[in-house]
Amino acid sequence: MAQRSIGIVMNGVTGRMGYRQHLVRSILALRDQGGLTLPDGTVVMPEPVLVGRSEEKLRTIAERHGLTQWTTDLDAALADPANEIYFDAQLTQVREKALRAAIAAGKHIYTEKPSADSLDAALSLARAARDAGVKNGVVQDKLFLPGLLKLKRLVDSGFFGRILSVRGEFGYWVFEGDWQAAQRPSWNYRAEDGGGMVLDMFPHWHYVLERVFAPVRSVYAQAATHVPERWDEHGHAYRATADDAAYGVFELDGGVIAQINSSWAVRVDRDELVEFQVDGTEGSAVAGLRNCRIQHRATTPKPVWNPDLPATEPFRAQWQQVPDNQDFDNGFKVQWEQFLAHVVADAPFPYDLLAGAKGVQLAELGLRSSREGRRLDVPELSL
Ligand SMILES: NC(=O)c1ccc[n+]([C@@H]2O[C@H](COP(=O)([O-])OP(=O)(O)OC[C@H]3O[C@@H](n4cnc5c(N)ncnc54)[C@H](O)[C@@H]3O)[C@@H](O)[C@H]2O)c1
Repeated sequence: MAQRSIGIVMNGVTGRMGYRQHLVRSILALRDQGGLTLPDGTVVMPEPVLVGRSEEKLRTIAERHGLTQWTTDLDAALADPANEIYFDAQLTQVREKALRAAIAAGKHIYTEKPSADSLDAALSLARAARDAGVKNGVVQDKLFLPGLLKLKRLVDSGFFGRILSVRGEFGYWVFEGDWQAAQRPSWNYRAEDGGGMVLDMFPHWHYVLERVFAPVRSVYAQAATHVPERWDEHGHAYRATADDAAYGVFELDGGVIAQINSSWAVRVDRDELVEFQVDGTEGSAVAGLRNCRIQHRATTPKPVWNPDLPATEPFRAQWQQVPDNQDFDNGFKVQWEQFLAHVVADAPFPYDLLAGAKGVQLAELGLRSSREGRRLDVPELSL
């Protein structure tokens, strides 16, 4: 069996996403399972090269996982021909410069979302990658969540009949950082550091809506900064200049109305941290990260509005769980496997930098809609 090693420059592995989801749960998990076996029998073995700003942090991570390759010199890592892929999980704001350098060095590009902090930059990166002839991809992890895979299965089966609406509820309380430490990095709450709910979550909602349901044709959003003062990692108070909540209404092709609330200032009264309810003429579903429950037209109760009586039916008990029917692996890892197969064997990979730019476009239009207080069309994007 042929083995194919592939060097991956991993920048931002000291961060939350870079370390946990991409290094540990994806690349190291792939190495632990003996690599990725392609249909022709070739085994692809990823060889991570850790890149970051702090020698000490990189060394600690490398030693913890028995890795030998790490450096604070990105250019040197990019100059090594054994490193064929550049991966970026840095802060969004510093991403563009690093992606440009990697494209110029002829590396294939895989990056966290959003691919850039403006549509111009995101499109220009997509064009640069195309012109350089390098393969490219953007993380769209939510598509690989068990709950959303089950939802997609329902859509593909025709379960819903005509889909009428989608309502999404995402979020949880992110502590301010004074009497309990915040559970997310403070840059997320500063606009000047690339933070903000719309820029963070609308790229996700774009690909979820487009790939599970239909393309997004218009957006109306209201962004808000509910908590104006927070405390950072060092216990210093700072002004939250970015939006910490966004209330969005999206019109999809075919007239489906999607409404998604995203908030870091909401307390959870849901089964999961994100849930989407989909209503169709033939049935409805509620999908979360892992679970998905359905109610068919034929089992739909007939409530009658009467505020004088207590609820007469156990509404939440009237739904049926969709079975797994398959093993679900970590979503980030599944997408890494697809990207590696794309690079090595030219397997299809639709989640490219142009797809990523569409997510940035929706975020940009969402912020504009909120500023101007009006609904905006989402123009088609092309390179
Ligand atoms: N796919 C997802 O579900 C998901 C979830 C959260 C975050 N993200 C994305 O991942 C990226 C990283 O987010 P995170 O939550 O891991 O952040 P984080 O703050 O935990 O990590 C940021 C990383 O960037 C590095 N960095 C490089 N230059 C920096 C600078 N000038 N200032 C500060 N840090 C710098 C840090 O060292 C660290 O490794 C962001 O682009 C974010 O949008 C994606």
